[in-house]
Amino acid sequence: MFPERRLRRLRKRNIQPLFQETVLRIDDMVAPLFFDESATVPVEIASMPGQYRYPLGMAGGIAQLVAKTGVRAVILFGIPARKDAGGTEAYNPEGIIQQAVRAIKAAVPDLVVITDVCACEYTDHGHCGIVGKTPCGPDLLNDPSLELMALIAVSHAEAGADIVAPSCMLDGMVMAIREELDCEGFEDTAIMSYSSKFASALYGPFRDAADSGFTFGDRTTYQMSPANPREAFLESEMDLKEGADILMVKPAGMYLDILQSVASLGLPVAAYQVSGEYSMIKAAAANGWIDEKAVALESLIAIKRAGADLIITYFALDAAGWLK
Ligand code: PBG
Ligand code: ZN
Repeated sequence: MFPERRLRRLRKRNIQPLFQETVLRIDDMVAPLFFDESATVPVEIASMPGQYRYPLGMAGGIAQLVAKTGVRAVILFGIPARKDAGGTEAYNPEGIIQQAVRAIKAAVPDLVVITDVCACEYTDHGHCGIVGKTPCGPDLLNDPSLELMALIAVSHAEAGADIVAPSCMLDGMVMAIREELDCEGFEDTAIMSYSSKFASALYGPFRDAADSGFTFGDRTTYQMSPANPREAFLESEMDLKEGADILMVKPAGMYLDILQSVASLGLPVAAYQVSGEYSMIKAAAANGWIDEKAVALESLIAIKRAGADLIITYFALDAAGWLK
């Protein structure tokens, strides 16, 4: 008790670094990249300052740039030139993502390439898989969409992706993808499951970036309610049992309780600091209301502290510079 115990003794400037409990490393971060099949020059995303849609021709160069910062992993999103109801461009061997993976792997073989496995950027209705009639109106059909996810995942693995990341929140998606990958000889391709992905309003800027807004309804019949921590734990536990190698919580900063509970399952956990989390910090900083670097680093250390092994963040490249 005070005055015998004085915790400020270990907070002296020179002593304090010895007792830092959480450390953010460059190795913890994954940089998201957007490739646009129709682009010829990089186009800045209006709602995400500092983020671009890149043309395919720049993939190799961008990979080299990322590697130079020390960041070891990227996650790719594609904007196809053609969309249809079945999302068929998503598994085209000559599709935007498949070509981008090959270009990146040719330029920097060691860069870890993660691909988002979902159809919402590729369907004309904007939903994450196959849509059909249900007693409650049109909705995403679960089992018919599983085959599509397996086709997409295998096409990414064939192109050379190290890790595939299904983000559609379908029941059974991890098992369906694992079976098909193994069947096609990709038993070493890892699965990072977006195991608890919430129906969040923080994806708004991403939907501009990836042109993946929907033409009817919303995603609340497949993404989770922000009110449901027990369901998030169950979702994560099921994906573990279906064979996921890495679990994910998304968004990150407002879901630190979820992150902490999912980390207790014992599998590596990734957290996705989503577009809205990034854009809010950028906008406030642009107004001079907050210090961008300080707030961004604080947001990242908080995500680490809650139990994330890996953080997908649009700040990855800047943070790598800040941490050096
Ligand atoms: C695709 C997908 C989304 C994000 C990652 N993968 C959008 C969505 O589910 O609507 C969001 C990422 C972000 O906001 O940064 N399913
Ligand atoms: Zn989707």
